[in-house]
Amino acid sequence: ESPLMVDTLNRPLRDLRISVTDRCNFRCVYCMPKEVFGRDFVFMPKEELLSFEEITRLARIAMDHGVRKIRLTGGEPLLRKGVEDLVSMLAALRTPENEPPDIAMTTNGTALAQKAHILKAAGLDRVTVSLDSMDDAVFQSMNDVAYPVAKVLQAVDAAQEAGLGPVKINMVLKRGFNDHSIVDMARHFRGTGLILRFIEYMDVGHSNGWKMDQVVPSSEVIARLNEVFPLEAVGANYGGETAKRWRYKDGSGEIGVISSVTQAFCRGCTRARLSADGKLYTCLFATRGTDLRELLRGGADDAEMTKALQVLWGARADRYSELRSAATPELSNPKDRIEMNYIGG
Ligand code: GTP
Ligand code: 5AD
Ligand code: SF4
Ligand code: SF4
Repeated sequence: ESPLMVDTLNRPLRDLRISVTDRCNFRCVYCMPKEVFGRDFVFMPKEELLSFEEITRLARIAMDHGVRKIRLTGGEPLLRKGVEDLVSMLAALRTPENEPPDIAMTTNGTALAQKAHILKAAGLDRVTVSLDSMDDAVFQSMNDVAYPVAKVLQAVDAAQEAGLGPVKINMVLKRGFNDHSIVDMARHFRGTGLILRFIEYMDVGHSNGWKMDQVVPSSEVIARLNEVFPLEAVGANYGGETAKRWRYKDGSGEIGVISSVTQAFCRGCTRARLSADGKLYTCLFATRGTDLRELLRGGADDAEMTKALQVLWGARADRYSELRSAATPELSNPKDRIEMNYIGG
């Protein structure tokens, strides 16, 4: 018997995004710029990371209170050793209705060609792969580690073949970098069954030097695409979906736009984020998390863990993106904001 928890804006907890490592082998300019995440950057020591048992225990308790979807993120989740074992432990969990969770992963794809089959066998349902351009020079200038487009495409194929599809492709748009790749990307992925999503560059963390004029509004993306490939809007798959969906009128598939800057979607936000060291955040733009690891390692029983989760979610009032669009002034000191590789995309 577990009544559905809702926050102060009546939003239930439905999605748990779990960061399994803060490390990444890319240095995307909008996420982990080299100037900040250089050779001497200190990542979390191993003993700080939640174990797979600890993560699974938290996920089980969250599933008892509304969570239906689990997304593994990072950093780059495939850099966490044995992450497929975590996937199988999560896949064995059941909701109160005796359903398994929907398990997805957001990855840069660099280890996906080797791991796709193992991950599928372990119980991973779907993957989302990041790719910011079809043009090697542009993509390499954005990942900043000279990683080629062709290898990401191989990884995407491997995932699709392994049954981890339909694979979604995340393209973060940064004006002056890859805005001229919009039509090329659409041309490449239309008719493949894959779902390309255009993401507005967000002011997450405090390292990427975000400026409003570097954001390409989704309305502009849709207008530009519509001239070449006529589009029509499609309804949401589920409440609180990040992406607004559009379909090519000629039937060659769908795309999405994620407009957290110009059209905030906080109203339906049912997401909580767990950092690799066990802090729970109720917003991507949070400045403070709740240390669940301390509770876990301090010997808290399930009832105590549940209480902590209920108190935290019950007090939640986050709607950062909505507030940002309503007011230009800084809402939180950017220096306090948690980095995306830490909190998980
Ligand atoms: P599905 O709907 O299951 O496909 O996943 P998703 O879109 O929730 O996940 P994904 O990791 O692909 O996220 C896509 C983009 O949306 C990333 O840039 C995320 O950082 C951004 N995003 C995801 N959740 C939130 C959120 O709660 N708030 C904001 N502002 N952005 C989010
Ligand atoms: N703005 C928007 N999206 C971002 N991502 C990382 N940093 C940013 C940012 N500043 C995206 C990645 C990945 C997802 C998890 O988050 O491209 O697809
Ligand atoms: Fe790594 Fe993803 Fe961040 Fe790029 S966006 S640096 S691939 S975690
Ligand atoms: Fe949810 Fe915060 Fe993103 Fe709004 S800004 S959608 S509340 S995570």
